[in-house]
Amino acid sequence: MTIQPTGAEHPAPVTDGVPEPGAVTVVVPTFNESANVRELLRRITASVPGRLPCEVVFVDDSTDDTPAVIADAARDCPFPVSVIHRDAPDGGLGGAVVEGLKAAASEWIVVMDADLQHPPALVPDLVATGEKEDADLVVAGRCLPGGSRAGLAGGHRVAVSRGATRLAKGLFPRALGGISDPMSGFFAVRRGAVTAEALRPLSHKILLELAVRCRPARVAEVPFVFEERHAGEATPNAGEGLRFLRHLVELRTASPFARMVAFGLIGLTGFVPNLAALYLLTGAGLHYLPAEILANQSGVAWNFLLIEVLLFRDRRHHRHFADRAGRFALLANADLVLRIPLIALFVGELHMAVLPATALALLTTFVLRFAGTEALVYL
Ligand code: GDD
Ligand code: MN
Repeated sequence: MTIQPTGAEHPAPVTDGVPEPGAVTVVVPTFNESANVRELLRRITASVPGRLPCEVVFVDDSTDDTPAVIADAARDCPFPVSVIHRDAPDGGLGGAVVEGLKAAASEWIVVMDADLQHPPALVPDLVATGEKEDADLVVAGRCLPGGSRAGLAGGHRVAVSRGATRLAKGLFPRALGGISDPMSGFFAVRRGAVTAEALRPLSHKILLELAVRCRPARVAEVPFVFEERHAGEATPNAGEGLRFLRHLVELRTASPFARMVAFGLIGLTGFVPNLAALYLLTGAGLHYLPAEILANQSGVAWNFLLIEVLLFRDRRHHRHFADRAGRFALLANADLVLRIPLIALFVGELHMAVLPATALALLTTFVLRFAGTEALVYL
């Protein structure tokens, strides 16, 4: 649905899909924000079109009358306002923003919330900073001098936000090096620096997704005060913490090599259930050899469940659960059977010493198991 402005004397920022230099498309995801969108448009009108040409694109997943309120409020706006209403919302807040990025045609795109926690008055400053510093991405940050997380209700949310920031920056030191607040949902990005097709947002953290996958060349920052919500309540986001962790793992393991390293690390954690089961089974009087074999299965099961959730979440649809589990267990046990003949081969034929031969055999079976998991379980 596109709502044309009544103030037709104002030029639209976009002509025939060619971005006008310096123009901005403001992308606003909305979920039941009917009490906020009118005030948001009023404040955008007060601070943006006087300084640069703009349009506003709402990506709406509401179940209330938000689109109708936007349509009504847009009549007073001297710039184009459009609403992309999604009947089958995909990817929540992150998916909505990606949809908006695809629809935006101006040279600059500003992503912001509808609830006025992000001050619209800052929109022209973000773009001006990007132009002045020749940056591709300008982040409105809450941790810079002059900024604050004032609107984060409750001390625990500030602590969680800090912890999440540290974790993300630790995992992506280069991509997030110049970004003090990668959890911010308020930023400006040059359209040319965004490859919307490459984005697979999983959690709400769309800036994190964009910074890691699109790697904008130059990043600038502007401080801002994260205000209290204007009206209504934040969208309930059950499971967002876990989704955020999965998002980090998915971003971190995008390359095959990184995925192999993660596969190995997950494999190492399998020692814990393996040894615990061994302890219990031998304690119950079982002979150590069958106990070893059984205990190994608990490590295999543990590893399987972890890689299912963390590494191959997107590739589970090719086979049924039992099929995947069976194949994975087969590979993991073949690993054990293969190792001894491999060591014998390395020692007997290649004349290697026992220790390096064992290490090489371990490495070989590991790589085979990883390749096998990729090709035989999840393909
Ligand atoms: N289209 C769409 N679909 N919009 C959504 C959805 C959804 O499923 N869920 C939330 N939104 C919209 C809301 O209407 C609002 O405009 C914006 O996304 C932010 O949602 P809030 O519910 O207000 O989230 P918040 O205040 O907890 O989170 C904000 O602050 C975080 C930093 O603390 C967001 O800006 C996050 O991106 C940011 O990381
Ligand atoms: Mn909010």
